[in-house]
Amino acid sequence: MTTLLGEVKDGIAVLTLHRPDKLNALDYALVDALEAALDELEADPGVRAVILTGSGDRAFSAGADIAEFAGSVEAGVERALRDFVRRGQRLTRHIEGYTKPLIAAVNGIAFGAGCEISEAAPLALASDRARFAKPEIRLGFPPPFGGTQRLPRLIGRKRALQMILTAEPIDAKQAVDIGLINRVVEHTALLSEARLLADRIARHSPAAVAACLRSVTRGLNVSIDGGWPSRPCSSPRWCRRPTSARASKLSCLGASEGV
Ligand code: COA
Repeated sequence: MTTLLGEVKDGIAVLTLHRPDKLNALDYALVDALEAALDELEADPGVRAVILTGSGDRAFSAGADIAEFAGSVEAGVERALRDFVRRGQRLTRHIEGYTKPLIAAVNGIAFGAGCEISEAAPLALASDRARFAKPEIRLGFPPPFGGTQRLPRLIGRKRALQMILTAEPIDAKQAVDIGLINRVVEHTALLSEARLLADRIARHSPAAVAACLRSVTRGLNVSIDGGWPSRPCSSPRWCRRPTSARASKLSCLGASEGV
């Protein structure tokens, strides 16, 4: 059964996690399908933005599939690291470094990996029914897919530790107040609002958009000094896909100045 749905309309792709009976929990097959779809959409010049959401009324994603990763954990540490931890880290790293605007449209519960995906996504809107939580500590381990690193950078160390150490959910209003997401919208308007945001960004040069995404993400993940490149870009991939030669030159200039 397909657990990831996808459609592209007017240059905007919508990917939907589709395991509603399991609150869109991410099993390995779904993580792999999501990675593959993101790769494909990233390489398609006709796609200008990607929206990621969840199927059904209840959940964006209730996190990694507990039943499946429990099997890997039982098979030993090496197996758990390979099957579960590295797979999930690869996914959130991919989402964080995505070269097109990727908008998480959080339609309900975003727990565990569901929360980590929202953290990694460059932009996130949430329905007024959304709730975010880091329940991993109840299972006896820290958030494994980058949550210990990205959440404090996004919302501050103390707020992040409160979420990580208590496992208590916060609602969408609190999430926007602390900077975990961009905006709360009415549940029924979530996808249309996500499309409007995607459209507004997609009007700009893809090369410039990619350069902004890369610069901001790179800057957050290194020291301020380390964020300045040691040499100007030579011929990065996004320079070869400009809407115009001028946009290309300007984007390269921005990258070489580290802005
Ligand atoms: N992995 C696998 N299955 C999950 C899941 C997960 N992370 N989260 C929910 N499900 C499944 C449940 O097992 C249940 O399946 P079933 O009907 O076949 O038994 C179904 O989704 C509905 O979940 P349920 O627990 O009955 O819903 P609820 O409204 O009572 O509770 C939650 C919702 C989110 C509070 C609860 O499901 C939960 O705590 N899930 C685990 C969250 C978590 O720890 N995530 C991090 C994993 S690292």
